[in-house]
Amino acid sequence: MPVINRIAEFHPEMTAWRRDIHAHPETAFEENRTADFVAKKLADWGLEVHRGLAKTGVVGTLKGGKAGPRTIGVRADMDALHIHEKNGFAHRSKNDGKMHACGHDGHTTMLLGAAKYLAETRNFSGTVHFIFQPAEENQAGGRVMVEDGLFDKFPADFVFGMHNMPGMAVGTIGMRTGPIMAAADNFELIIRGRGTHAAMPHLGIDPVAAAAQIIMGFQTIASRITDPLDSVVVSVTQVLAGDTWNVLPEEATLRGTTRALTPAVHATIAPLMKRIADGIAAANGCTAQLEHRIGYPATINTAAEVKLAAAAAEKVVGKARVDTDVTPLMAAEDFAFMLKKRPGAYVWLGNGPGEGGCLLHNPSYDFNDEILPIGASYWAALVETTLAK
Ligand code: NI
Repeated sequence: MPVINRIAEFHPEMTAWRRDIHAHPETAFEENRTADFVAKKLADWGLEVHRGLAKTGVVGTLKGGKAGPRTIGVRADMDALHIHEKNGFAHRSKNDGKMHACGHDGHTTMLLGAAKYLAETRNFSGTVHFIFQPAEENQAGGRVMVEDGLFDKFPADFVFGMHNMPGMAVGTIGMRTGPIMAAADNFELIIRGRGTHAAMPHLGIDPVAAAAQIIMGFQTIASRITDPLDSVVVSVTQVLAGDTWNVLPEEATLRGTTRALTPAVHATIAPLMKRIADGIAAANGCTAQLEHRIGYPATINTAAEVKLAAAAAEKVVGKARVDTDVTPLMAAEDFAFMLKKRPGAYVWLGNGPGEGGCLLHNPSYDFNDEILPIGASYWAALVETTLAK
């Protein structure tokens, strides 16, 4: 079965919604216009609408044509990024410096499309909670929704998420059991020495030379210390030291991000970084102070729910176009916080070509409107098959 016919009929309408949201991007916890847009549509279609979780979150509840005990949570993200959009088309960002460069405009639209269809048909037994969350980027709006009582107010037996994926062909859907996205943390390391004239380094203690060794030392976490079959990344992304050419500074600061796919490996990163930083700093006569800030956990899919997601995806795009063993990404996703509370599955929806301006977070990115009915049909099929009458 391709796209659901009724959903294909409102492809033009969905395209208009998507472009409207694209033109009015809003960032973390300020998605007021977007939340108004979503809430009004859900209410017009007869859903029970709840607002205010994580400030701008919206939850729409829909009961099936037949009563049933099971409940499913389906989630989209609504937030944009702090990027200056380079596109020149009519629906380009009207909010300068903000941009829907990750396709959350499309995610919101596809979930709305499914809500409209399911509200018309109600061909399922049980309850659906349509979860529209703020602040997926950096600010963990998913975690805040959970902390604000998302699953207490809207009990769900399982929860599902979806992200568009440039580089995956239109009409393909990918997923895997276990980790699909990484845990992501940030760190700051301050290395302290003793400043001196750069021509007389022996009279001070150089934190820059120590920093250089520590940067290389961190690379041994992936290459020498953890199992080569486990995925781990330590990226130093900022090196800050000194003010001029002829002075060795008092201190050097390194900042960056770390990634791991499994909780076991994740737990080892900070202690290893501390051991390496302390040891190399001491060998140079310096001290090191590490602050490791926990960010998003890994996004871990459960096997039974991946089966449900695959069954729904196969109905829409056909078995040959569903990959149930995709290679995970070391990027992170705050749907992970919902998956820590409920079993579920997070899937990728092919967005078409993935070069240059088509990449996520690129100032020339645009969500591919061609896939709106595919994503909306996936959501509808997931609800209808999972909550079959
Ligand atoms: Ni995203």
